[in-house]
Amino acid sequence: MTTPFPDTPDFGGFNAPSRIECDICDLVVEGTVPGEINGSWYRLTPDPQFPPRHADDTYISGDGMISLFRFEQGHVDFKSRYVITERLKNERAARRALYGHYRSPYTDDESVRGKGRGAANTTPIWHGGRLLALKEDSLPVEVDPHTLETIGTWNYDGRLRSQTMTAHPRYDVETRELYFFGYEASGLATRDVAFCVADPNGELIREEWFEVPYCALMHDFAVTKEHVIFPVFPTTADLERIKAGGPHWIWEPDRDAFIGIMPRDGSVKQMRWFRRPACMSFHFMNAYTEGTLVHLDFGVTDVNVFPFIQRASGIEVPPEKARSSLVRWTFDLSKPGDRFEEQVIGPPGDLPRVAEKDHMVDYQVSYYERFDPGHGPPLIAGPVGAGFNTLSRLEVKTGQRRDFFQNRATIQEAVHIPSEKPDHEGYLAFVADLHDENLSDVILLKAERPDAGPIARIKMPFRLRNQVHGNWVPADRL
Ligand SMILES: [Fe+2]
Repeated sequence: MTTPFPDTPDFGGFNAPSRIECDICDLVVEGTVPGEINGSWYRLTPDPQFPPRHADDTYISGDGMISLFRFEQGHVDFKSRYVITERLKNERAARRALYGHYRSPYTDDESVRGKGRGAANTTPIWHGGRLLALKEDSLPVEVDPHTLETIGTWNYDGRLRSQTMTAHPRYDVETRELYFFGYEASGLATRDVAFCVADPNGELIREEWFEVPYCALMHDFAVTKEHVIFPVFPTTADLERIKAGGPHWIWEPDRDAFIGIMPRDGSVKQMRWFRRPACMSFHFMNAYTEGTLVHLDFGVTDVNVFPFIQRASGIEVPPEKARSSLVRWTFDLSKPGDRFEEQVIGPPGDLPRVAEKDHMVDYQVSYYERFDPGHGPPLIAGPVGAGFNTLSRLEVKTGQRRDFFQNRATIQEAVHIPSEKPDHEGYLAFVADLHDENLSDVILLKAERPDAGPIARIKMPFRLRNQVHGNWVPADRL
């Protein structure tokens, strides 16, 4: 008999596992997909093959399902495949879950002790001629960009010493370099962080290690043309706790948050640390350097919003109740001390996106997702429970905002698709979760006018579980 998935917010309702590997040629389109949109939108979704070993497990433990929307000449095809990790192979052989709690290997079945736990379920990234499925606790897994068949673990031809690679590398569109880091680089709960750069051919050309003040959940970082910025927010790991079968992460609000800034072409030895009272963030919108000033834009909250981390920490603050805002932190490198300025630039939100041309430089326009309480209570979808209901285009310097909202829907992270046309801001594409129909639409908007509504709806014949992240790759890069 096969065990059902637990009826919890992580595995029930719109978050019920999908597990569908398929090919669909020519999805039904309502409206018009502009012919200039030519490329591949890759998405990664945690989609557990088997019911979890522990019923209180989290959404983000699920096996990585990579999917592809291929846009060409006004048509859209879909494909999805599991990333065939060592973890998935072992569990398929046993026909049950063998791996235990999130990043807590001492809760695993004896048969897989010491065997690969990476689920390759967070971000697909195209760089150096390779499509990589990333998860921050392990090495990348390479996937064929056309068939989505798994090729295998990628460690930069054996050169990468770090045991991990972030799911949020930063691509410099001018130099075509990939900047990334790995935390817990030398093993479970270590303070070692590797800072790395790959050249346009995907060759690892830099790897420098440094220690952070404590082992923290470092989900993202930021890069400007002149600096690299590392966050250390107090969601912390402790080896003894993990060895005792306890949770990997707990929220420790009594610890300060730290921000390390180093010159991009310098050395980790030049890292300068700034600090402030505890706060949490997962994603940075953008950052840039202006003389001696380094600006960092992002959504900040006063607590870690992941329900499984809150349970482990003995707190319960629903995401929509957490105090949060969209801020610009400005660090003046000409001044001594470890303090910096904060300015609110918009209402709170997450899953930020800027046009690729705007990465790392002074910019005007960003896109991000928000939960607007004016539209009623949240609907459950995605890794943190409450889903977003609004996509906003924000002019970061004026605060001017244009919003897209659809009733009875939650919306997943958007990709930005540039336009070839002059003075055209491009397009935004994202999956909308249709809660009443238990189905999904892909919505395509003109990036400049989200408030004008969709120019096309691409109809999915089944529900798409929430991705963690996706990326757009123009056809001429593949
Ligand atoms: Fe992320």
